[in-house]
Amino acid sequence: MTKALLELRDVSKTYAGGGLLSRRHVAAVSGVSFSLQAEQPEVFAIIGESGSGKSSLARMVLGLSAPSQGTILFRGQDVTALRSRRDRLAFMRQVQPILQNPFEAFNPLTRVDRYLYATARNLAGASDQAAAEAAADGALQQVGLSLAELRGRFPHELSGGQLQRAAIARALIPRPALLVADEPVSMIDASLRMTIVNLFRDLRERLRVSIIYITHDLATAYTISDRIVIMRHGEIVESGNAREVLAHPQHPYSIQLKESVLSIEGAWNKETALVSSGNREGSRL
Ligand SMILES: Nc1ncnc2c1ncn2[C@@H]1O[C@H](COP(=O)(O)OP(=O)(O)O)[C@@H](O)[C@H]1O
Ligand SMILES: [Mg+2]
Repeated sequence: MTKALLELRDVSKTYAGGGLLSRRHVAAVSGVSFSLQAEQPEVFAIIGESGSGKSSLARMVLGLSAPSQGTILFRGQDVTALRSRRDRLAFMRQVQPILQNPFEAFNPLTRVDRYLYATARNLAGASDQAAAEAAADGALQQVGLSLAELRGRFPHELSGGQLQRAAIARALIPRPALLVADEPVSMIDASLRMTIVNLFRDLRERLRVSIIYITHDLATAYTISDRIVIMRHGEIVESGNAREVLAHPQHPYSIQLKESVLSIEGAWNKETALVSSGNREGSRL
């Protein structure tokens, strides 16, 4: 049997409650299990309202925090057991993060291209500046940018959308098998969101990279995802093929989600209308 790309087995995360005297514990993630197959890359959406445990889950998948219980395996290897620098680097080459706010991902005083060169050197074996520039340019081309456009620019000289594309390009440099994108468009101008999430789907096609797309926005998830899970209070309350989940919602929460999709259905043909309705308070999850 081939190993899954990623497998979560009954993963929980509990945080100690605030203050020395508090015995309260926050169960951020409770008993989550799912797996992504290695053979067929997919866009896998994790949907849930704020506080449902999405970022806690993302941090565990990225190996940045350890589960309180359960196991996370990447290609059969326990993500929490990556002790040596060599194993850590090998994991980082394969699993790359994309964060919510690209302006926080880049230091304002560092030129954006420098980040890409550093990633090319540290994670993609670029041994000199020419090789680093070639790797950076190749990755930027994959997201519709080029090194010529970005060279020497500081983060504030780019738009949020351009900077998030640059962050995606940076993540692509080591040719990862999995991107973990935690609310990657929630800080992006509404008119650009759809083009960026569509890019995930393109990248899955072109580069055969799997993408965990974390969002509270059902409209974008429904549009680009192969499978979705819906989280509530740290638990998966529904999962499956995106269309099936929406066609036969079981849980009150997913029924509510379906209603939010139906309410924007009229706008489906117009990309900008779709995105802006996803942005209205009433249709937010
Ligand atoms: N480092 C932390 N320490 C204590 N509680 C946390 C920490 N991170 C998240 N939480 C709590 O865990 C729950 C889930 O948070 P989070 O994973 O950030 O959810 P989401 O990304 O879906 O908004 C929330 O109740 C949040 O307050
Ligand atoms: Mg979050």
